[in-house]
Amino acid sequence: MKYLAASAVLAPSIESALAASAAELPANPEDPFMWWPHDPNFAVERPEDALDVFELEATAYKKVPVAHFAYMETGADEGGTVRANRQDIGKFAIRSRRLRDVRTVDANVSMYGAKYNWPFFFCPVGGPAAQHADGFMGAARAAGRHNVAQIMSPGTKETVAQVNKARNGTPVIFEAAINPNWEVTKNVIQNAERDGARAVAIMIDLPSTFKRNQYERAKRRDSRLCGTCHELHDPKHPKGTVAHRVGPTSRSQIAIEAMTEQAKAYKGPPATLTWESLKRVRDITKMDITLKGVMHPADAEMCVKLGYGVFVSNHGGRVEDTSASTISALPDIVAIAKGKVPIFIDGGFRRGMDIVKALAMGADMVGFGRPWLWGLGAFGEVGVDRVIEIMKTEITAAMQQVGAASIKDLTPDLVYRSL
Ligand SMILES: Cc1cc2nc3c(=O)[nH]c(=O)nc-3n(C[C@H](O)[C@H](O)[C@H](O)COP(=O)(O)O)c2cc1C
Repeated sequence: MKYLAASAVLAPSIESALAASAAELPANPEDPFMWWPHDPNFAVERPEDALDVFELEATAYKKVPVAHFAYMETGADEGGTVRANRQDIGKFAIRSRRLRDVRTVDANVSMYGAKYNWPFFFCPVGGPAAQHADGFMGAARAAGRHNVAQIMSPGTKETVAQVNKARNGTPVIFEAAINPNWEVTKNVIQNAERDGARAVAIMIDLPSTFKRNQYERAKRRDSRLCGTCHELHDPKHPKGTVAHRVGPTSRSQIAIEAMTEQAKAYKGPPATLTWESLKRVRDITKMDITLKGVMHPADAEMCVKLGYGVFVSNHGGRVEDTSASTISALPDIVAIAKGKVPIFIDGGFRRGMDIVKALAMGADMVGFGRPWLWGLGAFGEVGVDRVIEIMKTEITAAMQQVGAASIKDLTPDLVYRSL
């Protein structure tokens, strides 16, 4: 092509053909097929029409106000860590075993005394109601219907008791953001335990403020004031389909007040959490504790020493740019923690095969954040159901393909680093 394009006779037409085909190339070429013209206006009409979670992403993009969508989608600085999470999963290749009996596949897992039907979970995310008015509780009902594990964000305005009722089955895992106002932290964690949370995850990867440039740019494209679309402070009367964050109550109100207090006291972000200060959490709860945001093997070693679950996460690329991808951090952490404490991972997991790979590499459960928000943004609660259905189908097929009838058959020899 390069040589043809250099020819004086052919150059103009070939150049324009190349320009035209370049315009058709998908924005994210590693996932959609390169030969399929990318249609920026693509959206599925019904949840069941979505072939994969990316079609729900495209549909949500059409339906959700651009700034709300960008809040969910973007990462720190220019989003390098978001891309790394996704791209690096492709660098680990599957090496399937053949001729095994995989007529029936059992993908259930047990974690913290609960049995879940599937080895994936919904990550804690703030502000799901910005994607659709069904919000977090819509997702809780969907996850409960399929007995899928779920971690609720510290910003969730509903209580653990309300969420567990919506889940109607296995209890939710609670996430706490620790801050120096110890009384607040204590109340929040003890209330969650009293209400029946299964375990507590502690967010440890936010010691600084962060900047998301693409989100800031998206906001410039939508200068509407929130109040022009939504009644503020009245959750029952949203004018649009997307609920606006409304007067938070209970825990989130407390958390906001505590964070404000903290910011005043420390004139900066909550950088006060240390291995030492974390020890106090042990004294106030009997719940199992997992630390969310572990990336370094030395921190995994500390978790093993102190009995914390290891949650390998870089916050979906939202807090630091050019971080290692989580999948590439996993092997060193597995070498230290496997079989000693539970290992969770998230960051860029979008397909059943992605999840199967991480399980084979040693993760005990795999989480995703944005995909369940895509389902929510596209169709509300039934869109979240569709995300789960897609994952169930893809995981079953992936397990059969690699020759695994159950999760314990997913062993490290099935995966190797291809690049
Ligand atoms: C909109 C949004 C809000 C989030 N809020 C939280 C949060 O409140 N607490 C937290 O620990 N992580 C939060 N995260 C990070 C997720 O828990 C999770 O680590 C990340 O989404 C996983 O990457 P993935 O989106 O590529 O699957 C958030 C992520 C998104 C997309």
